[in-house]
Formats: sequence, structure tokens, C-alpha cells
Amino acid sequence: MTLQHLLDIATEAALAGGAVLQAYAGKVNIREKGRMGDLVTEADRAAEAAILDVVQRHCPTHQILAEESGAQGTASDYLWAIDPLDGTTNYAHQYPFYASSVGLLIQGKPSVGVIFDPTRQELFRAATGLGATLNRQPIRVSSIASLNQSLLVTGFAYDRHETPDNNYAEFCHFSHLSQGVRRGGAAALDLAYVACGRLDGFWERGLSAWDMAAGAVLVAEAGGQVTAYDQSEFVIESGRILASNGALHQAMSQELFQVKPLPSACLPKLA
Ligand code: IPD
Ligand code: CA
Ligand code: CA
Repeated sequence: MTLQHLLDIATEAALAGGAVLQAYAGKVNIREKGRMGDLVTEADRAAEAAILDVVQRHCPTHQILAEESGAQGTASDYLWAIDPLDGTTNYAHQYPFYASSVGLLIQGKPSVGVIFDPTRQELFRAATGLGATLNRQPIRVSSIASLNQSLLVTGFAYDRHETPDNNYAEFCHFSHLSQGVRRGGAAALDLAYVACGRLDGFWERGLSAWDMAAGAVLVAEAGGQVTAYDQSEFVIESGRILASNGALHQAMSQELFQVKPLPSACLPKLA
């Protein structure tokens, strides 16, 4: 199967997931999955079923890692990393910033990525060597080259109540150095926005492969850079990602290592 064909399958899958999200929008029951704030709705599961149906029909021998149903299939060079609803907290509160994200790792490398934002009908697509597009038009990362002119984005994992490594200090640090740090609440869309130049850089810890696989391909194919915090090779299992327009990459990496921990007294005690 060619990369173009795999990209078309990912597109069909992400569009199917997004259509389900829109059909359920505003009508869901919300449940906590375990950790405080980690929500799931019927829409997550129904969108995942729609995406899996497409992927399994076209690629029955490929492995799948999907957020709600976990790992499926036997070892293969092809691993689909699927987040049917990235931005569940936003979705549950009817804050319209969420997407279906379908990524494909080939021999462990993010190689195909499609992210569909059904609210804005924005379809982000990329595959290694084939470029990145938004609604079929080529996209590129921004050319902002200094942090003090940049708009950045990050997020906070659901274990933020349990670990001092919760990204709060990094958020403060970059808020001082940039024109702003957004917290979009949907890592896949955060990456898509870096790819199309609306945002200049993104870092986050505690993510899963399904949050990053598609977006990593988009940023790389749009001319940006995707690495570990220290600029070494991106390892999706690490849960950490530094993605930028390239021009800011070294500065962001250096600053991540300058961050001083916040005193724990800054935070209220949870019941
Ligand atoms: C979450 C979002 C959020 C990020 C969290 C993710 P979900 O995914 O991408 O932006 O900060 O770490 O878990 O739960 O909405 O699919
Ligand atoms: Ca997610
Ligand atoms: Ca999700």
C-alpha cells in the first residue's frame, strides 16, 4: 500500500470520527475515567468505533492502539495510533476545540497523520515526503524567530494533581518570555496549529502516542521540528514532545532546562 493510499484511509477514518462527534455534541453523558478530570463520553466510544471500522476494513493486518479500546492485532510494522476525541474536557463543556486524530507509525516512526476539527470543518493531513495540508491547501510553519515575538501552546496531563513534574513551572517560565502561552486542551490540534503557523511552538509531557502521532507528522511535513525536550530524537513512548517552527527550537529547548520548580506552597491542598 502506498503512503498516499494510507493517507486517504486515515482521512476517511478521521472524517468518520469527526462526524460522530458533531452528531453527539451537546447531548452526552460525562463520566470520570479514574483520574480527577479525565473524562469520557459516549461520543469518545462511538467516534472510536467509526474510526476503527474504516481502519480495520482497509488494513486488517495492521496493529491498532486506540485510546478507548487499547491495543489490538498482532505485531506489525504498521501501528495506527487513534484518538477519537482529543479535547474531551472541552467537548464535555461545549467549548468548541476538539478533534479526531488518526496517526500511523511505520516501523515506529510517525508517517501519516490526519486531524479533523469538525467544528470548523478543518482537515489537517500529512504523510512523510508528501507535505502537509489544511483543507487540501499546503501549509507551513511560521517564521517567528525570537521567543519574545512568539505565541506558544502547552497542556497539563491528568496526573498533574499527583506529581510535582506537572508543567506549571514551565508554563510560567514561557509566559514571561513570549507573547503568550495558550492551553488549547487538545494536543493534536495544538500540533496542527503549529503546523499551519497559527502557533509557533508546543511542548508537553505526559502525553500518549495517540495524542502526538498525527500531529508530529504534520509539524515535520510543514517544515517544523519535532524532538525530545533536549533536541534528541523524538521518542513517542516518552510522552514528551517539543514541536516548533524550527527557528525557535533551540531557544525553547534551552529554556526548558532553565525552568526552576515552583514552591509546592503555591498550590491549594486537594480534598
Ligand atoms: C488530552 C488533551 C490535552 C492534554 C492532555 C490529553 P484527551 O487528551 O490532548 O490537551 O493536555 O494531556 O490527555 O483526554 O482530551 O483525549
Ligand atoms: Ca488526547
Ligand atoms: Ca481522547
